[in-house]
Amino acid sequence: MDYTIRETEFRKIEHFATSAGRERVIIFNPEGAVWFAAFIADQSDAIPIGCACCVITGQKALFRGIFVEKPYRRKGVFRALFVEQLKYCKAHGIKELTANCTPLSLPEFLAKGFTEVGKYKNSKNITIVRYEL
Ligand SMILES: CC(C)(COP(=O)(O)OP(=O)(O)OC[C@H]1O[C@@H](n2cnc3c(N)ncnc32)[C@H](O)[C@@H]1OP(=O)(O)O)[C@@H](O)C(=O)NCCC(=O)NCCS
Repeated sequence: MDYTIRETEFRKIEHFATSAGRERVIIFNPEGAVWFAAFIADQSDAIPIGCACCVITGQKALFRGIFVEKPYRRKGVFRALFVEQLKYCKAHGIKELTANCTPLSLPEFLAKGFTEVGKYKNSKNITIVRYEL
């Protein structure tokens, strides 16, 4: 499957809120959010199949809003979104990256060198990870 990752507007991905919500991932557009989406390359009207954002506050970024539609999972879409998020942060002088990971996203964050710093609000399933650039 060929897809491209592009920076995008929230309105292009906000329809993921319902399906992401079923998996306890809240999709909203906080101040400072820079959104990326994966688009199937041969669809001219460019319907997204996944998204992620970096919420930038000063020199810090929170990676959130990470969601890939079920039929397109385990094909590297999240990994490709993640690479774009990292590129963006490096290019914009971000020094500290944080994410609140589900069990599905945690392995990729750890593989990219993030380290666990705790559990989110004492939840068993959401692990806070961090990386200093
Ligand atoms: C988490 C999610 C974004 C992964 O998307 P994806 O495009 O399928 O992920 P990728 O194919 O890029 O996988 C990258 C790595 O993530 C990990 N991973 C992805 N899905 C996984 C799963 N179901 N179980 C365990 N590890 C998983 C693996 O390490 C995988 O690498 P591998 O395929 O080489 O083993 C997707 O499953 C999803 O949208 N889940 C529901 C919402 C969610 O949990 N979002 C994370 C919020 S922080």
